[in-house]
Amino acid sequence: MQIFLDSADVGEIAELAATGLIDGVTTNPTLIAKAGQPFIPTIKKICALVKGPVSAEVVATDTATMLKEAATLAKVAPNVVIKLPLTFDGLQAAQALHKKKIKTNVTLNFSAPQGLLAMKAGATYLSPFLGRFEQNGGDHLALLADLITIKRNYGFKTLILAASIRTVDHALQAARAGADCATVGGAVFRDLIKHQMTEAGLAAFLKDWAATGQKI
Ligand code: E4P
Repeated sequence: MQIFLDSADVGEIAELAATGLIDGVTTNPTLIAKAGQPFIPTIKKICALVKGPVSAEVVATDTATMLKEAATLAKVAPNVVIKLPLTFDGLQAAQALHKKKIKTNVTLNFSAPQGLLAMKAGATYLSPFLGRFEQNGGDHLALLADLITIKRNYGFKTLILAASIRTVDHALQAARAGADCATVGGAVFRDLIKHQMTEAGLAAFLKDWAATGQKI
């Protein structure tokens, strides 16, 4: 499973990309607002830090303006992926960009029929929002399983990008289900590495080693 960082914080991305374990980055207007920096220069900086896909989201709601914004964003760097909302207009924009071989990430996916249409539209990535869906009483596991079944049934090339991952468990659920990618915030990424038994085990090893008085 590819792991993307769901962040627009350039410092955090630089630090975590240094692990060599980050395959790409997803941003959204909320994350850009939180970072408090100008949008296009931020996307440019992120694209320089991470070789993989970097999703930059349009803010227009009509297809024509979405496509204008997409043209601007696509010029920022070769690894920019245009993020489009899963709406009537967003799906038309996804189709138009697919024809131009411009990569897209169709976002805000909360149902399998929505996902089917995004796959038919030629979305490069499809982002089901697991955490938000679960928080609102939705069955996020069924959503993910349905999307993967639909993809396999018809051989769609769209990559399923599990998004709105709030916990380590969500990331594990995405991997178990066979999601192609998962995007996680910096805190969840760090939590994926941690285990209290690893920390306790290491502390014990270091204590015992210190008692030997040896050095490597
Ligand atoms: C996905 O690309 C979104 O940026 C993100 O995962 C949304 O997550 P949230 O529900 O935690 O805001």
